[in-house]
Amino acid sequence: MSPGIDWGPLVEAAEAARKNAYAPYSGLEVGAAVLADGRVFAGCNVENASYPVGSCAERGALAAAVAAGCRKIDAVAISSAEPIPPCGMCRQALAEFNPSMAVLLAGDSGRTETSLDVLMPQPFAPGSLPPKS
Ligand code: THU
Repeated sequence: MSPGIDWGPLVEAAEAARKNAYAPYSGLEVGAAVLADGRVFAGCNVENASYPVGSCAERGALAAAVAAGCRKIDAVAISSAEPIPPCGMCRQALAEFNPSMAVLLAGDSGRTETSLDVLMPQPFAPGSLPPKS
């Protein structure tokens, strides 16, 4: 576990948000909470009858933090029945605000800690493309 991260409040916030997940199509309810500037921001997945319109819990939490003025995310906890790693789009979205943030995958009966630079070793950023041969 990351020595500096107090995961308790993050997991609590992610679990609370998960209770509000709107996932009638997939049935996969997800909550997420990010830690930024010592504050906790939560989000849940919000699905839509037009499937691609739905959004993930992680990007909901991230948007709340950014809307509050935060620009550096220290950690993200993701809550679902089974521990699930964030999707590729969320990895890229999170990496914008700290490519090496701590990540906790919290299931109902087990947790795994990892970090974003393990899950997303080469996020896209301007100038990150290899030169053309
Ligand atoms: N989902 C998330 O909220 N986060 C992820 O990282 C993966 C997937 C949601 C999106 C959709 O509502 C449901 O899980 C099934 O894909």
